Amino acid sequence: MSRPTTDVLVIGSGIAGLAAALGAAREGASVTLATKATQPEGASTWWAQGGIAVARQAPEQFKEDIDVASSGTSDPAALDVLVQNADAAVRDVLIDTLGVGFDTTDDASFHFGREAAHSEARILHVDASTGRHIHEPFLAYLTDHDRVELLENTAAIDLLRADELVTGALLESDDTVFCQHAGATVLATGGIGALYSRSTNPAGATGDGIAMAARAGAATADMEFVQFHPTVCVADGDPFLVSEAVRGEGAVLRNAAGDRFMPAVHPDAELAPRDVVARAVQREHDRTGEVMLDVSSFDFGATFPDLTALCGEHGIDPSQGIPVVPAEHFLCGGVVVNTNGRTTHDGLYAVGECARTGVHGANRLASTSLLEGLVWGLRAGTEAAEHESTTRGDSSLEEAGSAPSEAFVGAAFDRLQRAMDEHVGLRRTPDGLVQALDDLRTLKTEVDAFAGAAAPRVVHELRSACAVALLVTEAAAENDVSVGCHYVMDNSEPSHGAGATAR
Ligand code: FAD
Ligand code: SIN
Repeated sequence: MSRPTTDVLVIGSGIAGLAAALGAAREGASVTLATKATQPEGASTWWAQGGIAVARQAPEQFKEDIDVASSGTSDPAALDVLVQNADAAVRDVLIDTLGVGFDTTDDASFHFGREAAHSEARILHVDASTGRHIHEPFLAYLTDHDRVELLENTAAIDLLRADELVTGALLESDDTVFCQHAGATVLATGGIGALYSRSTNPAGATGDGIAMAARAGAATADMEFVQFHPTVCVADGDPFLVSEAVRGEGAVLRNAAGDRFMPAVHPDAELAPRDVVARAVQREHDRTGEVMLDVSSFDFGATFPDLTALCGEHGIDPSQGIPVVPAEHFLCGGVVVNTNGRTTHDGLYAVGECARTGVHGANRLASTSLLEGLVWGLRAGTEAAEHESTTRGDSSLEEAGSAPSEAFVGAAFDRLQRAMDEHVGLRRTPDGLVQALDDLRTLKTEVDAFAGAAAPRVVHELRSACAVALLVTEAAAENDVSVGCHYVMDNSEPSHGAGATAR
């Protein structure tokens, strides 16, 4: 079954997909926006806390901060694109088009927040729940747009292609599978949190776009650079992020003995780059049994009312300190794209967290992901609107396929997360990576036996997660240099857990 051809098919409805849809629609293209989410909370975008960084009057300093946080591995051309377009994109789309009410100061000018590794306050935010204040008006705006058709609860399960030309995707909704042919296809499927047992991402972050692109032969890169956020509260088993903006306001980290440990680890202490803080938090947690975020130096309730409420919902009294551990948060690598979001395959674009633009290199600076999704989304959407393909490609999936039991799927996700948690977390050893490769290859063979277009959505997600876990692990095994989020130790040191020795 086929739907009428659309000019641009966008897959995913986080900030990057929404920006791509807007960019294409503004060019007059017809846009089909397919998302497997059934509510905004299905995208990481909705959950974003600290905010969106802008360049203000100091673009060179902004670039420098991103590059320092990445340990000098970011791509200068990508940085130029991000920073040169930052303020105009935020003004045009978020403020003028969507009317996002970023927090202001008493004199009605914007309040700029500060986060780790930023040399100045440059982050626009709404309390510490910025994501939903951007995402909800953006979705509403496009839902009403006459060039955009939004298909919710609709998952892409494979790309349609003729050799290296991508011509749309195979979509599934309510167990019905159909072809959506398109002049151009934009992947905006977000991150890979489901590969780990502890992540800040919403469920459904199974790396589908990366898996589909890789299966089609498109290039991926920097897959070993998986970022762990240092301050995630897991007190009641339901993890929630405690924004870096809290440390930006002056909160400090203490171990079980009540001692601050970050000043001895890095000159910027709690405001060191995220990879450094995450490793130190894990080390102190392993060594002393607990790490607390001490917010007593400022009025936490008045400064972060939404986070205060969130703590309350989880039974945490912030005045007693907030218990934190690192958790998987963001993938710096992904599908290789150029400065317009074009992948190595004709007709295929990738934007947002599933894309590797080169901005983040080995480690991402806080509050630059929403910005990257916005800037690259607009650029990719604009270019995709001009891309025409008259060819009709096919999916590589067999139509039929037997379905595994629910128990098999649950156990397979457990095996996958165990391999990633133990061997491909914050700290890695060569032997651990070999073990993980072994486990994941065996698992992938078992899971791929159930490949078939008619398989339940969860089986496609499991296949994606296995394929992407292997990409991450292969990249990690091939890179023996510790840099940014990729931290390799001797085989003699234990690699299990998210922990790492701080540098
Ligand atoms: P997402 O927003 O994750 O959207 C992906 C979309 O793709 C979803 O709609 C999903 O349902 C859909 N999808 C996935 N697979 C398929 C498929 N097969 N078919 C169809 N649809 C599919 N960054 C910042 O810059 N500032 C912050 O303050 C910040 N805070 C954060 C706080 C949290 C708790 C988290 C989790 C992340 C935070 N980040 C922040 C990171 C940032 O939010 C994400 O990297 C960014 O929002 C990713 O946007 P995206 O559009 O690429 O993906
Ligand atoms: C946070 O608010 O700490 C998250 C910011 C980010 O991931 O960029």
